[in-house]
Amino acid sequence: MKRIGILGLGYNFPKTILTNAELEKMVDTSDEWITQRTGIKERHIVGNETMANSDMILPAAEKAIAEAGIDKSEIDVIIVGTVTPDYFFPSTAAMLQKKLGIKHAMVLDFSAGCTGFLYGLDIARGLILSGNYKYVLTVGSEQLTKITNWEDRNTCVLFGDGSGAAIVGDMKDDKGHEIIGVLNDGDGHLGDLLIMYGGGSVNPMSHEMIDKKLQYLNMDKGGEVFKHAILNMTKISLNLLKKHDMTTEQIDWLIPHQANIRIMEKVAERLNIPKERVAITVDRYGNTSAASIPMALGTYIDEGKIKEGQMLLMTAFGAGFTWGSAIIKW
Ligand code: UT7
Repeated sequence: MKRIGILGLGYNFPKTILTNAELEKMVDTSDEWITQRTGIKERHIVGNETMANSDMILPAAEKAIAEAGIDKSEIDVIIVGTVTPDYFFPSTAAMLQKKLGIKHAMVLDFSAGCTGFLYGLDIARGLILSGNYKYVLTVGSEQLTKITNWEDRNTCVLFGDGSGAAIVGDMKDDKGHEIIGVLNDGDGHLGDLLIMYGGGSVNPMSHEMIDKKLQYLNMDKGGEVFKHAILNMTKISLNLLKKHDMTTEQIDWLIPHQANIRIMEKVAERLNIPKERVAITVDRYGNTSAASIPMALGTYIDEGKIKEGQMLLMTAFGAGFTWGSAIIKW
């Protein structure tokens, strides 16, 4: 069996910082509420910059390609997990391909909410195992602040913008970080708890749609989402560990989706992983959805916390609902 791994990683985020203090001036909220309920202190946002999602991905993709030591023309698939694409079509993957200046690749976007990066790893691994493709540029990238209702205090304090990119490929010569296992799941029955109602085939673009503010991300019953996130992230992580005859004692770092510090703490507690072994970047980036895991991973590597050879357990939960888990030997 081929060993498939991450051969290169990159992440990127916009320069502009939006602090809790600034949000206090925009909606009825407080730094204290946001910090206590979510763990977020600030987030990076596109703000006034003219920057498409694919523009934001480009530096992350270039870093991943350089680290993998491949020529960009060797990439034969680009997949982008996002709910904030450049356009409905063509795909953000196609726009990224154009910006990378390469001519031949299968290019596609998919919508898996905050589980985008883990769904991406699964898709990439399967495509490589098919034998038809060699290198998959796997991206999770989101500009949720572009679909945020800045008058809705329930959601506008939660999100930030950012991108993560990885080259996934065959680990010949033992080069790369092996994907030991990856498992994903989903259930659409509660999909309307975390949804953007407008713009698609149910509520096509119209003045009426805008008047009803359906062009924004909508989260009903945050507490319900919270509960399902803890349950499903824990369950799928345990299932994946079991599948590979592993226990959490073998895990050096838990890298959970960065939605809320309280969700991460509860998942870690249920998995019996001490706080010191949980990667946390939600304080500085907010919830960057599909980008949050590769951004946390990249940040912890840059800070020298995550080191070569360590065992990583990743888990995410998001709109759909979707959820997943991955074990990677870094
Ligand atoms: O990334 C994809 C998955 N998404 C998530 O995992 C998000 C999951 N949900 C959460 O993280 C949490 O549910 C939230 C952070 C969104 C909310 O925290 P909570 O502890 O569940 O609060 P709540 O929704 O139960 O609201 C408690 C109170 C309410 O006031 P009342 O009704 O008790 O008077 C809210 O209106 O807090 C109020 N509230 C706020 N107050 C100040 C809601 N948002 C704010 C705010 N500032 N920004």
